[in-house]
Amino acid sequence: MKFAILLILAYILGSFPSGVVIGRLFYHRDIRQYGSGNIGTTNTFRVLGKPAGVVVLLLDILKGALAAALPIWGQLTPPHYLVLVFGLAAILGHSFSIFIKFKGGKAVATSAGILLTYNPGFFVIAVAIFLAILYISSMVSVASMLGLVLITISSLYYQDIFLTCVAFGLTLFIFYRHRENIKRIRNHNENLVPFGWYYHH
Ligand code: G3P
Repeated sequence: MKFAILLILAYILGSFPSGVVIGRLFYHRDIRQYGSGNIGTTNTFRVLGKPAGVVVLLLDILKGALAAALPIWGQLTPPHYLVLVFGLAAILGHSFSIFIKFKGGKAVATSAGILLTYNPGFFVIAVAIFLAILYISSMVSVASMLGLVLITISSLYYQDIFLTCVAFGLTLFIFYRHRENIKRIRNHNENLVPFGWYYHH
């Protein structure tokens, strides 16, 4: 019973649509109607600017980290791999949110939050991989997708089959969620961030 309640709580935490809430509350804009239409950090930066983008990034990481920590706080056993299971419930919430008609975001920041709880050292490595690709490609979508591929490969170092399987599953899911971005990348009209190697070439 406790397991089910905490799992539902993880899903509800993940469902919190930070970008929509911050946009509506403080900017009187629904970011779903602007830019890429996504509710995540990148589109928040794009549409509402840096302060809102930073807040949404932190909130989306936080909700993933908190949801993943629920089995530890709830003293469920064994908590080790349950951290990832509860994290996946948060990702489901973020991407199919109960608060916005089961629509949602691409789950990149929320996934990072789960990794922060599961393995903080690997979180730092994952962020470094993401930022390096972002700097080269000037595209958050490329950094998200290619980053997940490299993170999945890097996870082999930890000899943690569950981590690698979840990372692989997430990679497939994140590619699927980025299908509009993939079309734009192929048509050479994907949104760029205003820095990095590709932006300047
Ligand atoms: O995390 C989402 C990012 O990879 C792409 O966002 O708004 O450019 O589709 P967006």
